[in-house]
Order: sequence, then structure tokens, then C-alpha cells
Amino acid sequence: MSPKRVNKYLTTRILGREILHFPVCDSTNCVAKNVPQNHGTVVIADRQTAGRGRLGHEWQSEKGGIYMSVIITPKKAENVTEITLICAVAVRRALGVGEIKWPNDIVIDQKKVCGILCERTANAVICGIGINVNNAVSADIPATRLKGTDPSKITAAILNNLEQLSDEDFANIRREYENHCINVGNCVKAIFHNRTVTGTAKGVTDTGELIIDTPDGEICVNSGEVSVRGIYGYI
Ligand code: BTN
Repeated sequence: MSPKRVNKYLTTRILGREILHFPVCDSTNCVAKNVPQNHGTVVIADRQTAGRGRLGHEWQSEKGGIYMSVIITPKKAENVTEITLICAVAVRRALGVGEIKWPNDIVIDQKKVCGILCERTANAVICGIGINVNNAVSADIPATRLKGTDPSKITAAILNNLEQLSDEDFANIRREYENHCINVGNCVKAIFHNRTVTGTAKGVTDTGELIIDTPDGEICVNSGEVSVRGIYGYI
């Protein structure tokens, strides 16, 4: 993907005004951690050899997909869960379709099209976003691809939306998140390291934890510690 084409669709002041493009790299998140931590710098790659997902998973990253990492230095000391959820809203707005599976997946027709991995460095948060477009997709979970889209336009639209949202408190966009969150109102299984809790997802807190109503009372789970699934499968 050419930075020039992305630039054509950008309406941002800062985000994406510096784009570092690699035909191939290990992981755009790793590259982003090792360049100057300037707010708004974006690393994009045509393919990754060691794409990473949440909770130690691999992110399959062959040519044809969108692989981008945005360096942001939030004004407030927001937690990474909040930023992950804000990125999910920015991507959902950019795509104009799909639902959010808490915390960080965008799904279309119950299949994953996008994953988000936000990681903190000493002075910044690296927001890594992977979207299936014309690439091969993993068989591990139900996955789908965006069809008939221009990756440069989508990349720019994500940055345009993220710039608007990145200085907001998550509390301000919590309703929008919940309105698009496929888990809300549904039965979920929260899988911790050594136990599983089942209940109905009620919504999210002002700091982005998922609220689950269980037979033993309400619990709030943080994205760093659990994986959430539907009771019969991915959703
Ligand atoms: C997930 O669903 O678990 C998160 C996947 C995040 C993948 C993106 S692709 C760009 C960036 N670089 C990485 O190595 N990972 C993220």
C-alpha cells in the first residue's frame, strides 16, 4: 500500500502525517516500538513475517491485508483496554459495517475481519490493527475479508476517525461501543488462565471492562486477562 495513496484521503492534522512503509517486516507493532515515539507516526507493511495477536496468538499476515500500527501519546494516562476499545470504534466507523466483539475484534456476519493489539511502551501506546482484505485467512476461528474495498481509503478513514476519538474519554463513546457490541445481551464464556465463567454480557464499564452477569453476581473482566467466547463457539 502506498503512503501517497493513503495521504490522498487523510483529513487528519497529525495522525498519519508521517507514514513508514515496509514491503515486509516482522510485525508493525515491533517496528513501531523501535522508532521515535512521535504522536501520530504510522507504520504500515504489505506483509508481516511474525504478526502478533492478543494473548500470544499469531496474526497471519500474508500480502493483501492491512497491517498498520499507530503511535499515540495520549494526553491522559488512559489504560490500554480503553484505547483498544476506542480503536475498535474508530475501525467500525471507518468500515461502516460490522459489529464489535469485545474487546478488539470487528466481525461481519459473525466472522472476524479485523483484530486490534494495543501495547504500551514507556512513552506511548502502539495501536496495531490488522484487517483481512485480499489475504489468506486463518482457519482457527471463523474469519472473513472485506470485499471491494480500497485498502488505502480504509487506512486513511481509520486514522481520520482515530484522531477524532483518541483524545476522548472512553466514557463518552461507551454507548456507541455498546450499541455495536455483539456480546451485549448474549451469553458469554470468559476464559481465564485456569477457570471459565459463564454469564450474560451486560455492557462495558467507563474504563472498558466487560460486565458479565453470572449466577454468583456481576463481574467485570479486563481485556488483558481473559478471552471471551460465545457459549457454543466464537460468538
Ligand atoms: C488480535 O485479534 O488478537 C489482534 C491482531 C492484531 C494484528 C495487527 S496487524 C498489525 C499489528 N502488528 C502486529 O504484529 N499485530 C497487529
